[in-house]
Amino acid sequence: MEKHIVSLAGDGIGPEIMAAGLEVLAAAARKIGFNYEVSERLFGGAAIAASGHPLPDSTLTAAKKADAVLLAAIGSPEYNQVPVRPEQGLLALRKELHLFANIRPVQIFPALKHLSPLKEQLIRDVDFVIVRELTGGIYFGEHQLEADKAHDINAYSAEEIRRILYKAFTLARRRRRKVTSIDKENVLATSKLWHRLADEVAEEFPDVTLEHQLVDSAAMLMITDPSRFDVIVTENLFGDILSDEASVLPGTLGVMPSASHSEDGPSLYEPIHGSAPDIAGQGIANPISMLLSVAMMLRESFAEAAGAEMIERAVSETLKQGIMTRDLGGSADTAEVTEAVISYLD
Ligand code: IPM
Ligand code: MG
Repeated sequence: MEKHIVSLAGDGIGPEIMAAGLEVLAAAARKIGFNYEVSERLFGGAAIAASGHPLPDSTLTAAKKADAVLLAAIGSPEYNQVPVRPEQGLLALRKELHLFANIRPVQIFPALKHLSPLKEQLIRDVDFVIVRELTGGIYFGEHQLEADKAHDINAYSAEEIRRILYKAFTLARRRRRKVTSIDKENVLATSKLWHRLADEVAEEFPDVTLEHQLVDSAAMLMITDPSRFDVIVTENLFGDILSDEASVLPGTLGVMPSASHSEDGPSLYEPIHGSAPDIAGQGIANPISMLLSVAMMLRESFAEAAGAEMIERAVSETLKQGIMTRDLGGSADTAEVTEAVISYLD
């Protein structure tokens, strides 16, 4: 049966890397016999320009009906002062699609290890996944801003915490069977609940080891001993901060994909980097995060593991051959990297 993918190219370099992603998807799909169709929709600043809102109804309706949503990047300086910013569209899309589980794998490509700011012996064995709660917590609690005071409410229900913990423990079973649950239970009530529920869920997974870390010390361990982690699970705001910290380990944001899942609706796949407006339209954007997001989509939404691995191998080979964009120290443009990846699909 034909699968339906909604593509949201967004802003800045978004359209360029989306084009690369769709080309590689088409080439891989031919090899594995994967049938799909793509519809493009407006999102982010591009949608504000066209309709005044970053998440127009037609985009949301299409996303809800899709089998998967591919997003490139949003955000642009021209839209920083508008009443509803492009980022608001992303938060609304996550909420509307109930995308509570954000999965961000962190691994080091041997061909890029010299880019890491950490010493080689520290990053050699880094291979972990951050499982970030994405539709609750302080992001979605009441925000109140007055002239001389402000507050943001951090609220979590047990159910919201349990379902993300289950995601993390289930994922750990397919990996090295270790979960690090990160909270601030020495201060926050939400974290005390989180900590207790992590212990409870761990009892149902006796084959998985649970370790607890306070968020401040976890931030330190991510730099001093990053290879200790296998699956990290944490609340929305801590996950936002720690995933940016983790993205520094490979030395570039340009090679990291992500997936966001709901209970049973369409998942969303996107690079973790932004829209890089400074280099937009020049044909030099690094498409690797986007290509790896396409691979994640094939594996996680369509059970096409062979197609996913084919793309991942082709990306590794392309980097190994030194075919890379300037941000990675190479001299290739977006089209050359994309063509190289396609030529290594096998
Ligand atoms: C991310 C981003 C978003 C977030 C912003 C753009 C609202 O930083 O996806 O991590 O904070 O979740
Ligand atoms: Mg972030």
